[in-house]
Amino acid sequence: VVKLVIAGVIGYLLGSANSSLIVGKFYGVDVRKHGSGNAGMTNTLRTLGKAAAALVILGDILKGVLACIAGLYIMRGGVTAEIFNRDYLGDMGLMMGGIFSIAGHNWPLYFNFKGGKGILTTLSVALMMAPAMALTLLGVFIIIVALTRYVSLGSIIAAALLPVGSLLLGKGPVFVIFSGILALLAVFQHRENIKRILGGTERKLGEKK
Ligand code: G3P
Repeated sequence: VVKLVIAGVIGYLLGSANSSLIVGKFYGVDVRKHGSGNAGMTNTLRTLGKAAAALVILGDILKGVLACIAGLYIMRGGVTAEIFNRDYLGDMGLMMGGIFSIAGHNWPLYFNFKGGKGILTTLSVALMMAPAMALTLLGVFIIIVALTRYVSLGSIIAAALLPVGSLLLGKGPVFVIFSGILALLAVFQHRENIKRILGGTERKLGEKK
């Protein structure tokens, strides 16, 4: 249990390094004061453009992966070539590190607890949990965004399908519960987007204001 808590704390500290806010510092812009007010990749793209958004993608994915590896390492006392051939304890550590890195992203310690919606970090954690499932859901996300131009709708649906995917893959209960938490966190963070989508006022991809 102590090790799990340590995995969670390290995950939270890593996740709190919200890439959109760090990249924003280089541009002298706090993206939370622009566009949707969200500290994430979509709003960075909207506010600062493609190069900044690419850096955010890199940073947010990297920190999620690092948090998962740290969790795995702590629970197992080592990370070897068996990284994708894990046992129950390793899985627990990885998922604890991963979930808390998303929490850190959403409520960052270093940025007044006002962060983003954790979608890229959720993607990186899902990649570490089950790469094939994560890539399939990334495909679902891309199709929805291409069809509707709503990044938020793609995020919500892909995240909500995480526990469904875990069940279909025949994963154990812990895995399904962790995926369910990831899905709930993502949907909860998109509550304002859901209202806007229903009200027809959600920003489409490429819309500036
Ligand atoms: O991942 C965030 C995205 O789904 C929505 O971002 O800025 O349009 O609220 P935004």
